[in-house]
Amino acid sequence: MLEIRTDRLVLRPARPGDLRAFHAILSDRDATAFWSTPAHTDITETQAWLDAMLAIEPAQGEDFVIELDGRVIGKVGMYAFPEIGFILHPDAWGRGFAGEALRPVLDRAFAVHDLPTVEADVDPRNTASLRLLRRMGFEETGRESRTLKIGDEWCDSVYLSLKNPKADGARREGASAGSIAP
Ligand SMILES: CC(C)(COP(=O)(O)OP(=O)(O)OC[C@H]1O[C@@H](n2cnc3c(N)ncnc32)[C@H](O)[C@@H]1OP(=O)(O)O)[C@@H](O)C(=O)NCCC(=O)NCCS
Repeated sequence: MLEIRTDRLVLRPARPGDLRAFHAILSDRDATAFWSTPAHTDITETQAWLDAMLAIEPAQGEDFVIELDGRVIGKVGMYAFPEIGFILHPDAWGRGFAGEALRPVLDRAFAVHDLPTVEADVDPRNTASLRLLRRMGFEETGRESRTLKIGDEWCDSVYLSLKNPKADGARREGASAGSIAP
């Protein structure tokens, strides 16, 4: 089973026993303020969410549970390539854990899965996520209004993209080879 260790965290695949920990996160109003669904009010909603995470096929995506000292504090990964998603329990915010978890997941996206880009769709009010993604090197590619109706509220999207550094290198090599070609 794939497990990634960072300085402070363990990233691992989801297990059925993660249900209560994820319900604590997905029922939290602050954690889900800009999430793609309203805060879960019933554990059956979290069960369906976790079942979907457990059912991800390796060719379709790669999502990781984030553990700190044996406790589940969130998730980071791609439910479906190449769309990145992350959520942490508010108790764990502000200590650099999201960046620490995201870095190796992005490295794998390019080095192992060979994705040309990783993409993100963020509510423009979600400043913590926008700061995090920009710090990771993501660049804004566009904005759209009223992309997602969450409960009764229409939300907007900022689209961001991170390019595979190998693709940049290949393009640079291609450009220089092209410039000396007869
Ligand atoms: C977005 C989210 C995951 C960020 O989590 P986080 O762990 O607080 O994020 P970071 O890793 O960036 O850390 C936050 C701060 O800790 C700081 N930090 C970084 N490394 C650190 C370290 N080793 N020690 C202490 N602080 C550190 C960072 O500088 C950052 O501060 P800044 O934003 O002022 O620059 C979290 O706010 C969240 O779960 N939000 C709700 C879910 C959500 O909206 N998901 C995205 C949907 S698109």
